[in-house]
Amino acid sequence: MKILSIETSCDETGISLVDAQGDINKPEFNILEEYVASQIETHREWGGVVPDLAKREHDKKLPILFKKIKDRDVDLLTVTVGPGLDPCLWSGINFARDLKKKNFPNTELVGANHLEGHLYSFLLDEDRPENLKDVFPAVQLVVSGGHTILVYMKDMGSWEKLGETRDDAAGESFDKVARMLDLPYPGGPEIEKASKKGDSEAIDFPRPMINSDNYDFSFSGLKTAVLYYLRENEKVAEKDVAASFQQAVVDTLTTKTFKAANEYNARSIMVSGGVAANSVLRNSFESQAKEKDLNLFIPPIQYNTDNASIIAVASYINNLVGKSYELKADPNLNL
Ligand code: KG4
Ligand code: ZN
Repeated sequence: MKILSIETSCDETGISLVDAQGDINKPEFNILEEYVASQIETHREWGGVVPDLAKREHDKKLPILFKKIKDRDVDLLTVTVGPGLDPCLWSGINFARDLKKKNFPNTELVGANHLEGHLYSFLLDEDRPENLKDVFPAVQLVVSGGHTILVYMKDMGSWEKLGETRDDAAGESFDKVARMLDLPYPGGPEIEKASKKGDSEAIDFPRPMINSDNYDFSFSGLKTAVLYYLRENEKVAEKDVAASFQQAVVDTLTTKTFKAANEYNARSIMVSGGVAANSVLRNSFESQAKEKDLNLFIPPIQYNTDNASIIAVASYINNLVGKSYELKADPNLNL
């Protein structure tokens, strides 16, 4: 099945053509064509994503990216309907509807959940076993700019949310702390860069809810602790603040994920979403998974941040299990 997918939920415009095959225990994906137009430069001067500007950019880029798709032999059309920024989601949905009308009148068009895109992105990890029966049960951390969610995956078709952030998402806290340090948007990669020469033990920032007896997270207290630290200390080594903040986030995320893996007898851990691009986070998960003899799946970096290929993957899985989403923007859609 060849799937043409569209992603416009935030500040990346993505179109992919993905060949998907196999049943629910052995799905296989071959990315045939893939285009992502990043809007980072457009939003950088504003210090964050401006929804109306983002919509305008999506409207402009979608037809340009679609023109690049050479193979027009498509079996399924899919577009992200949420979660995300309302005007941006509508930009993708309306484009997909027009596309169906003009170019693919006989092809089905279905909605996709962006978070399921991240959830199933581990399927693009080349190291994962061919037969997924060897992977489950698993615990997955979905950690992006808008979400921080722990999921228990019994198998491909049945998973449940264990907990999520009660306030800021982990990625959001990276972006906000970066702003406090006068680092440009998006903050995650900038904090990572700044922290390289810093001392992660220089400042003892809090690790909120690290020992709570549930799987929820909270990052707004940590952000405020950084703010107070910057206010109260005149001479501050930026690199140490960045490294110590980053370590506090990484410790919280890894501790809770491994605790859940232990409680649920997981064989594997998965990490997905934009923050999973962070190398300190990846290394920490890698060394602890090795120590505890757990499989670890983190998709290649280009599939952590937003793109349309993960949307095609999620739509294929939903197609197999008979799940679908209405073609209507749903900014607060969750897992
Ligand atoms: O998944 P994503 O591209 O978009 C959402 O679905 O939200 O995630 C974007 C988030 C941003 O908050 C960004 O700062 C963060 O992921 N991020 C990182 C890194 N790269 C992106 N955070 C920490 N370290 C990174 N290297
Ligand atoms: Zn995302």
